[in-house]
Amino acid sequence: MVICFLLGFAIGFFVFCNFISSFMQGFLHSFLVNNSFLASSGGPPSYPVLGCLISFYKNRRRLLDWYTDLLSESPRQTIVVRRLGARRTVVTANPANVEHILRTNFNNFPKGKPFTEILGDLLGCGIFNVDGELWSTQRKLASHEFSTKSLREFVMKTLQEEVDDRLVPLLESAMETDEVLDLQDVFRRFAFDSVCKVSLGYDPCCLDLSKPAPPLVKAFDTASEISAMRGMAPMFVVWKLKRALNVGSEKKLKEAIELVHGCVVEIIRNKKKALEETKAKSGAFAGVVGGEDLLSRLLSAGHEEEVVRDMVISFIMAGRDTTSSAMTWMFWLLSKHQNAEQMMVREVESMLNNGRNGFDFETLKEMNCVKACICESMRLYPPVAWDSKHALNDDVLPDGTFVGKGDRVTYFPYGMGRMEALWGKDWFEFKPDRWFREPGGENGLLKPISPFMFPVFQAGPRVCLGKEMAFIQMKYVVASIVKQFEIRAVNGDQPVFVPLLTGHMAGGLNVTVKRRELK
Ligand code: HEM
Ligand SMILES: *[C@@H]1O[C@H](CO)[C@@H](O)[C@H](O)[C@H]1NC(C)=O
Repeated sequence: MVICFLLGFAIGFFVFCNFISSFMQGFLHSFLVNNSFLASSGGPPSYPVLGCLISFYKNRRRLLDWYTDLLSESPRQTIVVRRLGARRTVVTANPANVEHILRTNFNNFPKGKPFTEILGDLLGCGIFNVDGELWSTQRKLASHEFSTKSLREFVMKTLQEEVDDRLVPLLESAMETDEVLDLQDVFRRFAFDSVCKVSLGYDPCCLDLSKPAPPLVKAFDTASEISAMRGMAPMFVVWKLKRALNVGSEKKLKEAIELVHGCVVEIIRNKKKALEETKAKSGAFAGVVGGEDLLSRLLSAGHEEEVVRDMVISFIMAGRDTTSSAMTWMFWLLSKHQNAEQMMVREVESMLNNGRNGFDFETLKEMNCVKACICESMRLYPPVAWDSKHALNDDVLPDGTFVGKGDRVTYFPYGMGRMEALWGKDWFEFKPDRWFREPGGENGLLKPISPFMFPVFQAGPRVCLGKEMAFIQMKYVVASIVKQFEIRAVNGDQPVFVPLLTGHMAGGLNVTVKRRELK
């Protein structure tokens, strides 16, 4: 009887919460832009509460652009946002503020529990999702591994395999059959293969369309999608309750996470065995043994199974959808700006004609036009559109904005790439030229741009660990494609940028593939 009652109550409460949650979504998500404060620091004109609700409804499908508009109207590119039921949030596109948060006063701005909770079940204590000591020890270890020459060589080797033996043949066959391809899907498969090979020494063969996607890939997709949904939920209590009761999306999440952890642990155990066997064979004086992937390196260094598991899952999470997002938007932009594409083609051609033997590391490093195009697309469509920290203590940002203990502080690469104050009147144009020291300086040097003005990889002590690897990967792919193919978007309209954990193109990018004849 009592149990029935309790159960009934729990279910009733659950239904009620879900109901309230969908009903209140609009209201709770309404942003009450607080102006009593902004009046003193300079900001958007006052919005009466009702006016703000209305503009929220008008803008709910374009929140990124709405924020961007508010920020560009604010003289200091900073706004304070109040949302019923959520903590006070400072959103900034001001480079001085960004430098303060990400570098000068780094210790006061950890990710914080409200963020780490969301991905905590999937990422555990992995580098991507922890703060303080736990983070800094992993960071030291990982930055050492990421900066070794041998890892870079391994990355080049996996790229050659993945691009030359899989991506290029796939595009060739689409060309021969006049098939329309979803390039976003192709790049996501490519990125998953690449990051798994580098992090785990395991090949999920996602780009091989004749094989079904392995369970790890599907489970990873499900787990990151549902985790991202937690972050969007208007009330934490809803997903926490669902998790406690193990129902609905939270049940699916739990299963997906178990599968991810299971697969990775299995890979780790096999790797350990292989490492031990090699060690036994090669004797005690063999020095470093085993594979060149990150997992082998971490295991050879003697780290615990669970620590290693969480670390490599963090690498996969961080490295999978980011490069694919950047390249998808880039090929859409290039489709519309063929002069920029021509500039890259000339660069690649001249390198190949000057006796370069394919794209080795040195050649990639010199590809300034390709780099300028990649940066220019990421300025307009940054893979990570926004990112938040939570203040440990009261603080004042360089522009005078007060930050209270516990407040959320969001730096906003998407908005920053679209500030007239930062990029000039032509900010909305796709102009790779702006990345060169001299205009029209195609063969010249790139301009140094402050990472706090262009924080697409974040900046400061916690800057993306995979930044160099990401550039190598993107340059290799882009150069290999433009060298032999003309990719043209079939999508007519402006695609929609969906900022989940990483920015997607809604509905994918349909393209046709034609042969390009090099001179
Ligand atoms: C265009 C591609 C990429 C972009 C735009 C990008 C961007 C970022 C950003 C914004 C962060 C900070 C996120 C946060 O703290 O919440 C980050 C962190 C990180 N990224 Fe990347 N990333 C890219 C590619 C990669 C790749 C290929 C890897 C390789 C595995 C990688 C590994 C990491 C790691 C390990 C971190 C965590 C660093 C730390 O917390 O100390 N990233 N990245
Ligand atoms: C791409 O093509 C597929 C099928 O050809 C179609 O279902 C889809 O809607 C298209 N996507 C976009 C964004 O146009």
